[in-house]
Amino acid sequence: MRTFLKIVGGLVVLGIVVLLAIIFVPVQRTPAQTALAADWQPQEGHGEYAMRLSDCMACHTEEGGEPFAGNRAIESPLGTIYSTNITPDDETGIGGWSLADFRAALYDGVRPDGTHLYPAMPYENFRHIGEEDLRAMYDYFMTEVPPVRQEVEETSLTFPFNQRWGLRLWKWVALDDAGFTPDTDDPVLARGQYLVEGPGHCAACHSPRNMVMAQAGTGAGDDAFLMGGEVAGWTAPPLRGPQSAIRGWTEADVAMILGTGRNAHAALNGEMQLVARDSTQYFTEDDLQAVARFLIGLNEPLDPAAETRDDRVTETEQLLASATPDMDLGARLYLDNCNACHFVDGRGADEVFPELAGNSLVTAESPRGLLTMILGGSQLPSTALRPYRLRMPGFAHRLDDDEVAALASFLRSAWGNAAAEVDAGTVADVRDAQL
Ligand code: HEC
Ligand code: HEC
Ligand code: HEC
Repeated sequence: MRTFLKIVGGLVVLGIVVLLAIIFVPVQRTPAQTALAADWQPQEGHGEYAMRLSDCMACHTEEGGEPFAGNRAIESPLGTIYSTNITPDDETGIGGWSLADFRAALYDGVRPDGTHLYPAMPYENFRHIGEEDLRAMYDYFMTEVPPVRQEVEETSLTFPFNQRWGLRLWKWVALDDAGFTPDTDDPVLARGQYLVEGPGHCAACHSPRNMVMAQAGTGAGDDAFLMGGEVAGWTAPPLRGPQSAIRGWTEADVAMILGTGRNAHAALNGEMQLVARDSTQYFTEDDLQAVARFLIGLNEPLDPAAETRDDRVTETEQLLASATPDMDLGARLYLDNCNACHFVDGRGADEVFPELAGNSLVTAESPRGLLTMILGGSQLPSTALRPYRLRMPGFAHRLDDDEVAALASFLRSAWGNAAAEVDAGTVADVRDAQL
């Protein structure tokens, strides 16, 4: 009995300590920045451009819905979170918000009534947006976006995640200092760093998550920055390090894929296709180049001497060219279904059919993106610079689970690719999720 009372007493004390800790943890509230002159006015178009840089539209617009009226369901590790109406409607949107309210939401994830926003709203990154861009955006939302009256679905996560006050503690642990200081004097590199770390919020998908599900690297100084993450079942590949998706690419290659959705090596899919459609295709050429130079600068230059043609490419080519009846199922299916566009060398055709040799989607640790692609196909978005649409057909009706598994396993080991095999169960899983 005594031990029992001791345990209960201990738990009560522990509970009180945790509660006090939560109450007294400082809420991150970034003070108004006063760097701008009181009469500072954004130039025409600045606010809309800053919105494109930050991709506010993607998350705050339902498929087929009014721009910025919210209600888009966003899958998070905690459950489904609905984005809010950020049109200037007084009742259902942010019509009554002051500049300080807007800043607190973007930098600190706090609403005017003091409640905390879930980090599905990427304030981990937006807290590095500069005051000019922020004020220009505020102006744009208040004066140029038409108000839309629309209540959004209420987010209701399961306990304990529905306790928004708990986010106060999370923020104390997870958020780094607001503001932006470039690591370099070079204005182009500094601009690129700003765009990637701040408005572009690339780390929200491309950085891994730490123990408390916060981004493990939000800035170029962090080891885990852009080292690869996962979003909605797709791998967002590392953009630096030994597995970097852009290893060996030129600045022009990076600028091209962000501006048009495709380049000589790859094509964008899934969530990244939406990033290009709603955001990066609107970047000016200078900004695309700045982002490209910054990202390439994070990668070790390739040693040209080591870049001889891989023997394993020749091996796969010979295998495919021999086309014997006892050929592996995976290789045979490739010849029958894929070869016409992607070719025996797995190199495709520049800006038309992506390379499969060394492709980050093909070799990603999780094969789900690749399987989604094979089953469902995909279409590259039309962009201003590359308006024609290219389609990759889906093979869900033509290939069964065992066949898709054999084909995917072949792709993941052909031409020197070295990723793990895929089993039919995983294919069945992805097929179900697609229906
Ligand atoms: C990756 C998705 C995503 C992006 C990008 C995004 N938001 Fe959000 N935003 C959300 C979600 C989800 C919520 C609701 C979070 C919650 O319920 O806690 C939200 C909430 C907000 C709120 C709070 C509104 C309210 O009524 O409580 C504001 C303001 C806001 N976002 C503005 C913006 C602006 C401005 C941008 C672009 C600079 C932007 N958001 C970009 C997902 C996003
Ligand atoms: C909403 C999540 C998300 C955001 C935000 C995001 N990415 Fe991605 N990105 C992905 C995913 C998922 C992939 C893998 C899809 C694919 O292979 O096309 C990807 C792929 C890429 C690729 C490699 C393409 C390839 O096929 O090799 C590049 C380069 C890239 N992203 C750059 C960026 C940059 C730069 C930013 C910030 C401006 C950014 N991404 C923001 C999710 C995201
Ligand atoms: C009619 C031509 C065509 C055929 C046949 C075809 N593809 Fe594609 N494939 C494309 C195009 C075009 C794209 C780029 C579209 C996109 O990514 O949205 C693409 C993209 C891909 C990608 C994504 C590459 C990246 O960088 O994002 C993979 C993987 C792929 N195909 C595999 C296959 C496999 C496996 C087969 C056979 C089962 C196949 N394709 C058959 C045209 C084709």
